Amino acid sequence: MKVLVTGGLGFIGSHTVVELQNVGYEVVIVDNLSNSSQEVLKGIVAITGTTPVYENIDLREKAAVQDFFQKHDDIAGVIHFAASKAVGESVGDPLLYYENNISALVYVLKELQKKPAANFIFSSSCTVYGQAEVMPITENAPVQQPISPYGNTKKIGEEIIIDVAKISNINAILLRYFNPIGSHPTAEIGELPIGVPQNLVPFITQTGFGLRAELSVFGDDYPTPDGTAVRDYIHVVDLAKAHVIALQRLLNQKNLDKVETFNLGTGTGSSVLEVIQSFEKVSGKKLPYKIMPRREGDITSAYANTDKANEILGWKAQSTLDEAMASAWKWEQKIRS
Ligand code: NAD
Ligand code: WQD
Repeated sequence: MKVLVTGGLGFIGSHTVVELQNVGYEVVIVDNLSNSSQEVLKGIVAITGTTPVYENIDLREKAAVQDFFQKHDDIAGVIHFAASKAVGESVGDPLLYYENNISALVYVLKELQKKPAANFIFSSSCTVYGQAEVMPITENAPVQQPISPYGNTKKIGEEIIIDVAKISNINAILLRYFNPIGSHPTAEIGELPIGVPQNLVPFITQTGFGLRAELSVFGDDYPTPDGTAVRDYIHVVDLAKAHVIALQRLLNQKNLDKVETFNLGTGTGSSVLEVIQSFEKVSGKKLPYKIMPRREGDITSAYANTDKANEILGWKAQSTLDEAMASAWKWEQKIRS
């Protein structure tokens, strides 16, 4: 059965391609390499022994998207990862984000709308909750107006999919990821941040390797047990596996709503200092860090209530923070060797 994975050479996409191929799906990747490299294909092949079909297409090009779906008219499901994801960059260049994250989505949905049946999985984000009032966060928590254009593209993306599903044969699952970290245990694929990482874990592993002098801990005066901000860090392989299960649910069509939404997290919150401790434990290295003021736009705390994914998808994150951190560290060492 053929599955289109847009952004399939990126961080979460590549891990999902591996899990899809592991259970026998025939994968077609579309990626314009704007935040990835064709080298990632080698890692996928090293793990799975199978080479996915790869097409270098920019999904902002409507005609190219149309041609793609004409050529591949037997796609059973689409997992749409392709997007730009740097929060800070989106503030400086909102139109880049609205074009890439919204136009591409619209063009793909336009093609799916023509089909007698279509299954669509969308990469959404816990950012749509903003600072939720109640922890852990359920899917029923109110969606808030996001602070960044990036966050807004996820909110708008969800709304577009809900509107289109109402009047078409498209069934969709919206997956709201919390904080994905780590890499494949083989260290054949992993996260490849360009430039100075904005996210905590790649900054930690680069600092641990000596590429950065020290980590800035953004704020120790939050109303949390140790004063640093709390997030739900989920191993990317657990996240990838959830996509396979979500796809199977769409394909089985049993008791399915037109659009369903699931949180994907571990259900456990970890503070920045706890993440540092985890790194120190698994690497045996002391991490240099200093306390700095809060980062603008950051929230205090976000961690998932995962009951819905547990009950309906039968999915639960398996890896601990230490396991995820160990995989991130193994990957950092591999790419620097
Ligand atoms: P990533 O940048 O590693 O992967 C995205 C991939 O999409 C890249 O390979 C990029 O080259 C490709 N791409 C971007 N624009 C494209 C276009 N116009 N045409 C074709 N390919 C295009 O990002 P990721 O971390 O793997 O994130 C995947 C998805 O998950 C994104 O939609 C992101 O917004 C969402 N998400 C990520 C996180 C996170 O923290 N990583 C959290 C929540 C949601
Ligand atoms: C985690 C914690 C920082 C770097 C972002 C996006 C969100 C989602 C996931 C896509 C925070 C602290 C970080 C550093 C630090 N992406 N930190 N020093 O901010 O939870 O979420 O990625 O949808 O939309 O906003 O993740 O990894 O940037 O930060 O102290 O050098 O680590 O303040 O508390 P965040 P993050």
